[in-house]
Amino acid sequence: MTASTASAGSTDPGVAVLEWARELTGPALRSWTERLPPAVAGWAGYHLGLQDEAGRPLRGYWGKAVRPALVLTCAEAVGGGARDAVRAAVAVELVHNFSLLHDDVIDQDALRRHRPTVWKLFGVPAAVLTGDALLALAHRVLAAVPGPETVSSIAMLSGAVEELVEGEALDVVFERRSEVTTAEYAAMATAKTGSLMGAACGLGALAGGADAERALPLVEFGRHLGLAFQIVDDLLGVFGDPRTTGKPVGSDIAARKKTYPVLAALASGAAQGRTLAGLYASGDPLSEADLRWAALLVTDAGGVRAARLAVERELEAAFAALAEAEPAADSRRDLTALAHVLTRRNA
Ligand code: FPP
Ligand code: MG
Repeated sequence: MTASTASAGSTDPGVAVLEWARELTGPALRSWTERLPPAVAGWAGYHLGLQDEAGRPLRGYWGKAVRPALVLTCAEAVGGGARDAVRAAVAVELVHNFSLLHDDVIDQDALRRHRPTVWKLFGVPAAVLTGDALLALAHRVLAAVPGPETVSSIAMLSGAVEELVEGEALDVVFERRSEVTTAEYAAMATAKTGSLMGAACGLGALAGGADAERALPLVEFGRHLGLAFQIVDDLLGVFGDPRTTGKPVGSDIAARKKTYPVLAALASGAAQGRTLAGLYASGDPLSEADLRWAALLVTDAGGVRAARLAVERELEAAFAALAEAEPAADSRRDLTALAHVLTRRNA
């Protein structure tokens, strides 16, 4: 059954694909995390939204299941069955959550998915160790897949993790550097976010029976989509509504992050860009009014327009790669709908 035929009751086909992936992957994710070392299992369960901070069980997984949706749909795109790709979907989602746990420590973010972060509630050692355990578990899950693709899958996942780390390291370095170009930023964001989305597509294709060569255009699709998704995430960091993002208003600007729209505004040569540079250079904390003003400066200097154009460019490249992969018609529809919902999201 494909996501389109399963259509979990949502009117938007992209949202239906996400719901379908969440339903298929959620129970397996829960049962694998129950096998974590007991000392970290509670922190992991809290982070994943499987339990509350006192250890009381909650109903479901809190993530959007973006990467599982890519895994399962790409397995179908090469003629395989989604059910055969559930372990790969769990593995990728575990790696994603490892990276979120560590990223929240690195950025000292207090909120994630509308809730206090693990390091904030239980301390930095808890968040670091829980992330480590999820990363190790991801490899254990993939290693448990019977079949000839297991070694290639583990190699693909490990490669993506190394690239993810490279992207995050560059992100940290860029925060301390005065000049960063949008091209340098795009390369960093492809490593930070595109790597795992690309691997999600590739692992799905391998689980669906494709060889590494057949998986390649789907990996490219995921990488371009990942960059587009990250730039949309950057726009939400400037304009996102806290009720839907689960993060404070203007959180990226408050932390003076140099995201795509901000870098484009700073490089614009417009007076508003220079004013924004002054605001970024001052060490004073930014009030809510400052954040609203900064968002206006980013817009008026053309940063939002440039970011939206970059999203369109990456989406076009993603769709070109998808056409090259020659997926089955249903899967092509699902992946296209998914790409649209991920780049139009308000959460
Ligand atoms: C939100 O995904 C996450 C991103 C846009 C990726 C950001 C990249 C990192 C955090 C890499 C960090 C790397 C290391 C090594 C620490 P989402 O909106 O799909 O999240 P959800 O699962 O909450 O829905
Ligand atoms: Mg970060």
